[in-house]
Amino acid sequence: MAIIGKDINLAKEFLQKRQLVAIPTETVYGLAGNALDEKAVLSIFETKNRPSFDPLIVHTDSLEKLAQYVQEIPEKAFLLAKEFWPGPLTLLLPKKDIIPDLVTSGLDTVAVRIPDHPLTLALLSALDFPLAAPSANPFGYISPTSAAHVNQQLGEKIPYILDGGACGIGIESTIIGFVDGVPTIYRLGGLAIEAIENVVGTVGLMPHSSSNPQAPGMLKSHYAPRKPFFLQERNMIPAASDQATGYLLFDRFMESVDQKYQRLLSPRGDLQEAAHNLFAYLRELDAQPVGQIFAEFVPDVDLGRAINDRLKRAAAAD
Ligand code: TXA
Ligand code: MG
Repeated sequence: MAIIGKDINLAKEFLQKRQLVAIPTETVYGLAGNALDEKAVLSIFETKNRPSFDPLIVHTDSLEKLAQYVQEIPEKAFLLAKEFWPGPLTLLLPKKDIIPDLVTSGLDTVAVRIPDHPLTLALLSALDFPLAAPSANPFGYISPTSAAHVNQQLGEKIPYILDGGACGIGIESTIIGFVDGVPTIYRLGGLAIEAIENVVGTVGLMPHSSSNPQAPGMLKSHYAPRKPFFLQERNMIPAASDQATGYLLFDRFMESVDQKYQRLLSPRGDLQEAAHNLFAYLRELDAQPVGQIFAEFVPDVDLGRAINDRLKRAAAAD
């Protein structure tokens, strides 16, 4: 099993030896390797069982370093970076040749972000290369929001997990690209559209596509538990009578059902709290002796939009 600890020097040693280390961020844990080293990048894809057409995010800790990896930072990208980095925002920018094509799956843009976690920022500042890091889960499964989650699934495959506690935000970064200069959301995430529009005005929204995954968790089925997973409008979930069922609810318990298999994302109806709990509760329910999981949508505003996006993909059949 992986060693779990807070030793930045040890993490650095493994990374310098071209090995992989799981790192904490404010969104979810990442499976990190040297983004400039094809061998390390290849082993990220292999370890996650991730198809090579699904590109990776490159993590760094300063705009100065970023300038070595991208050709330019358009003005609106710069405004967003200034406002929200370090934070749950990923920008798609034209890449320089130093970034291997393997990282971007052959695209001419690279996804970049400065994550907001003290341990990972300290690690990045101690390294002379950036870190490519997808979420540290097997491809298609629920993203990890604690060191224990990472260890459960990838512990056999990696030497070290840098333990930064539970991820504060709990849902992946919002990905923004620029289509004819217009900021466009490629993946809803931990930074709400409302906050982004306050800085750069109206943004576009990429239609999700499973047939043309030029982007993210653009693949339709994703973030999925192993158990059959069904999604309903809020307060419309039926009480299942025929088999043990887990319930993932927003703010109120189902009255007619045993509370043991129910999880409330936020009893006080707070969407940030709901995002923070989402993946951990999905995992908990998936691990219960239930035959299926029922979930309900949350209010479709602020982080609720990203939560609903993840619920839809968890429920998608393919
Ligand atoms: O919060 C996060 O973003 C976490 C933490 C670890 O930083 N990372 C994460 O990585 O969620 P991952 O690999 O699970 O999702 C990144 C998504 C991928 O689905 C990929 O398709 C998209 O970013 N992506 C990467 N490069 C892209 C590009 N050049 N154009 C469009 N989409 C891109
Ligand atoms: Mg992922």
